[in-house]
Amino acid sequence: MKSSNQRNFIDKESIFGPDNYKPLPVVLSRAKGVWVWDVDGKKYLDMMSAYSAVSHGHSHPELLKVLHEQSSQLALTSRAFYTDTLGPYLETITSLSNFDMALPMNSGAEAVETAIKAARRWAYLSKKIESDKAEIIVADGNFHGRTTTIISFSSDANSKNDFGPHTPGFVSVEFGSAKAIEQAINENTAAVLIEPIQGEGGIIVPPENFLPDVREICSKNNVLMILDEVQSGLGRTGKMFAFQHSNIQPDGLILGKALGGGFMPVSCFLASKEVMQWLTPGSHGSTFGGNPLAAAIGKRSLELLEEENLIENSRVLGDFFKNALIDIKSNVIKEVRGKGLWIGVVIDPNYVSGKDLSKLLLKEGILCKETHETVIRFAPPLVITKEEIEWALEIITTTLTQIENKANISK
Ligand SMILES: Cc1ncc(COP(=O)(O)O)c(C=O)c1O
Repeated sequence: MKSSNQRNFIDKESIFGPDNYKPLPVVLSRAKGVWVWDVDGKKYLDMMSAYSAVSHGHSHPELLKVLHEQSSQLALTSRAFYTDTLGPYLETITSLSNFDMALPMNSGAEAVETAIKAARRWAYLSKKIESDKAEIIVADGNFHGRTTTIISFSSDANSKNDFGPHTPGFVSVEFGSAKAIEQAINENTAAVLIEPIQGEGGIIVPPENFLPDVREICSKNNVLMILDEVQSGLGRTGKMFAFQHSNIQPDGLILGKALGGGFMPVSCFLASKEVMQWLTPGSHGSTFGGNPLAAAIGKRSLELLEEENLIENSRVLGDFFKNALIDIKSNVIKEVRGKGLWIGVVIDPNYVSGKDLSKLLLKEGILCKETHETVIRFAPPLVITKEEIEWALEIITTTLTQIENKANISK
């Protein structure tokens, strides 16, 4: 599969960069819409979308236009000055999500850090929790990023071990159990921070009453309910925000990935004025957060999700794709789960590892990747068509049949 041309690029990455990723053996050089090409010109269907960051498809022409126009007009100023792009972007994102205010950042992890800082300030200055005692309740199996504080409350040993000392102030409880959250709350609890559907944890959808119950518990105890929708947000699950499936409104919301339209890191933390009021000058910031280019891209990315019916496409084609995967009825598949165009296929490791299945699909022209060894994630750009999904389904079905036949012969 690897040509000497590809080998050369792969070798360079491993010689001059640390081994903190284990990429599939393909070297990409070009993309358009849902398709990407490797350096040898072979074409692949992107079912990864850069972990859901390319929801609009690669090089969306409208966003490319914004990128060109805004970068030739005004790209970067820092927040030392006002710009004519940030205000309109903040207005758009807050009215869309029903929050008072948004604090712009760049990466998802930075926005999570922002949420943690905002929750702690609110806890000390509004809720009057004793100094340095604030606690945030998180969920087992969470993924919120890779900074030192965030990995402090990860349950994944590999991302946590030998990076200590860890930041205190976090309590982790079972994901999907509102009761566990209620039992963990005490007078020092500032916030509950969870993903509405755990993405990196393996596309784990909690019981239907989980979010409404957590909402009620948080309100009853004066605890902030903060949702990390860096991956689940912006149409990925078939609603603008995953929390809308439960008809609730959280107190804080973290967005990222697709907010950058597949071009650049754009993230933010949204909350009420009551929470945001304590972020005073100098208490938090970022040189690049809310820069004119990011603001223009962020605004247009949000608008396009609705203008181009991408959320509805995610809902309708997500259902179609999920049901078709269930219908394959292969012994290799143990479970199919997810919402919208965000599907996890749990495979039986007795037949094939997630990594090997990803490699087999790569060979056939589908880019996807395993999460947690036995779950294959399918998260194509939301601009994908039914025909393109049907094309992928044929390949997936044939590949699974071949794996099963091979296993039966060797029995
Ligand atoms: C739910 C969630 N939060 C935060 C992050 C971190 O985002 P970033 O990689 O942009 O820092 C991720 C990344 O996958 C994520 O899935």
